[in-house]
Amino acid sequence: MSNLNKILLNKTNCKSIWFMRQAGRYLPEFKKIRSKNQDFIKLCLNSELSSEITLQPIKRFDLDSAIIFSDILMVPYALGQDVRFTKGFGPKLGDFNLNEFLKIEENDFSNKLSPIYKAIDITRKKLTKSKSLISFIGAPWTLIFYMLNLKKSQGELNLLKLHDKKLLNQIIEILINFLCIHIKNQINAGADVIQVFDSWAGLIPKENLSEYCFMPNEKILNFCRKQKIPTICFPKGIKEKYEDFNKIVKPDGINIDPEIDPVWAREKLKNVVIQGGLNPNILLKADEDIIRGATKYIQTFKGIPYVFNLGHGLLPETDPDKVSRLIKFYRKFNG
Ligand code: CP3
Repeated sequence: MSNLNKILLNKTNCKSIWFMRQAGRYLPEFKKIRSKNQDFIKLCLNSELSSEITLQPIKRFDLDSAIIFSDILMVPYALGQDVRFTKGFGPKLGDFNLNEFLKIEENDFSNKLSPIYKAIDITRKKLTKSKSLISFIGAPWTLIFYMLNLKKSQGELNLLKLHDKKLLNQIIEILINFLCIHIKNQINAGADVIQVFDSWAGLIPKENLSEYCFMPNEKILNFCRKQKIPTICFPKGIKEKYEDFNKIVKPDGINIDPEIDPVWAREKLKNVVIQGGLNPNILLKADEDIIRGATKYIQTFKGIPYVFNLGHGLLPETDPDKVSRLIKFYRKFNG
């Protein structure tokens, strides 16, 4: 069994390290491929290139897991919405059309995403047995944030669009169904673990956290549990509500964000493997700062299962040599 799976399923105290966004723009070898492939969606649907990009950080660094090169927005794409990535602006989605959304058939959805499943198959065959291949989905709320264009300005929500509760709940239920299909397809293709990104959970008004974050994550996790699929959840930004989230959703692993005090997490997050936490900004600083930051997490979680990772994805400005030195430090520290 691969290293990460052992930790998640058997709660063994073995060591494991990988990084969110480890395949991406901070790597010159990725930038080279990207510059020749302007259409990001097409790149994600190129199975050979997707597999190659997934393996780039594995070739360069001593990491325990690979994460498939894809995007959470491939699901709205497969559900018929126009998805574009423009330089400097991030993702931009076309107008949401409920009638079109309701018409999508499960077979068409899976067919549209089949190149991702092929990429997983190719990658799993090239990866040694001890390394896990992680696949992922965006949680319904985080997808809706993009699908309904809820962003008003930095950190602010367009609350007007949240008034139609009936519509929101309808979209959530449909997304849950398709996300479970996407999870199952990825596992059937060879993925070992599923990470659920709820990157914008921190923007949900407190009184709605249960219906827009806990409930959808719980339903997806119930599906995974029935199918014995190992899971890691990342409800970013929900502060002390991480404790309720963990009790209700019960994932195998939970990624903490940089706002969560690791000492608090160790005390409050029980029956779960904690992952991550280190602020990715620290990797832009001097080596001493990086080592100090990493030491805090390694020390705090000493003696319990902990997966070393960050509190969010690696930033594009990150120097790959700093990543390499951090991994070497982690290995040395853990003997
Ligand atoms: O290495 C990996 O982690 C695997 C690949 C991966 C990508 N996106 C590739 C990507 C993963 C796991 C994601 C998840 C994702 N995508 C999330 C959840 C994690 C998080 O960061 O919060 C979200 C919210 C998205 C949506 C998204 N996709 C955004 C906001 C952007 C643009 C800004 C950014 O951070 O890059 C993308 C584009 C994207 N996804 C790129 C990559 C490598 C950059 C594309 C480019 O080269 O321009």
